[in-house]
Amino acid sequence: MKIGIVSDVHSNMEALAAALSYLDEQQVEQIVCLGDVVGYGPSPNECCEMLQEVNAVTLLGNHDAAVIGAMSTEYYYDAARLAIQWTRRQLSTHNLEWLYQLPYTYRRPKEDVSFFHSAPICPSGYFYVVFKDDAQAHIRMFDKLTGLSLLGHSHLVRAFRLSDGKAKETQVTEIRREEDVRYIASVGSTGQPRDRNPNGSVALYESDSGELLIHRFDYDREATVAKIAEAGLESRFGERLLTGS
Ligand SMILES: [Fe+2]
Repeated sequence: MKIGIVSDVHSNMEALAAALSYLDEQQVEQIVCLGDVVGYGPSPNECCEMLQEVNAVTLLGNHDAAVIGAMSTEYYYDAARLAIQWTRRQLSTHNLEWLYQLPYTYRRPKEDVSFFHSAPICPSGYFYVVFKDDAQAHIRMFDKLTGLSLLGHSHLVRAFRLSDGKAKETQVTEIRREEDVRYIASVGSTGQPRDRNPNGSVALYESDSGELLIHRFDYDREATVAKIAEAGLESRFGERLLTGS
């Protein structure tokens, strides 16, 4: 089974449209969005609706949680908090209600894969898995992990291989189905990459082989930047899209 994954869209409809069109070309059977549909960007309603239209299984990210009032906005710096409040005012009742019922996790045991916004160890705690030690903390729940756990949240592409009580950093291209091995991988951000590559990130998981592919795509980021300015959101949110920072 082919599953397409988008993550951290952050109200960037131009990036989401490009990612969904790639997944359509790839003829995926299921789309999963790893959360942070909204926050920072100028098109929150459009992004919610585009995901609903493709029946994406969508998880609750921390920005989504803050928008619906399930997380305090005190955790955010001023500009991000203002964007969360702006988003709350923009969203239709339908989309607010849709965000309100999103889960923290999604598991597909048959395909040996689970999905999280942040981390399997504490899906509602918004823990970052960026360094080896973050992955190592998951050894204690090794038996509960599926072969692959896919994460968003960090806006970075990372992969870790867990076996024999140890986590090691690896490459996404090394991921496959293996006995007594678990992989944890973050797929990067569709709508606000932070790895100095301004191209958006979208992932493909092939459950038969257990392989994960990260595809980076160009999109009309100038249009998104213009909409950020038009909405009166922080200009830095637009500038970072041009540099991937
Ligand atoms: Fe995010």
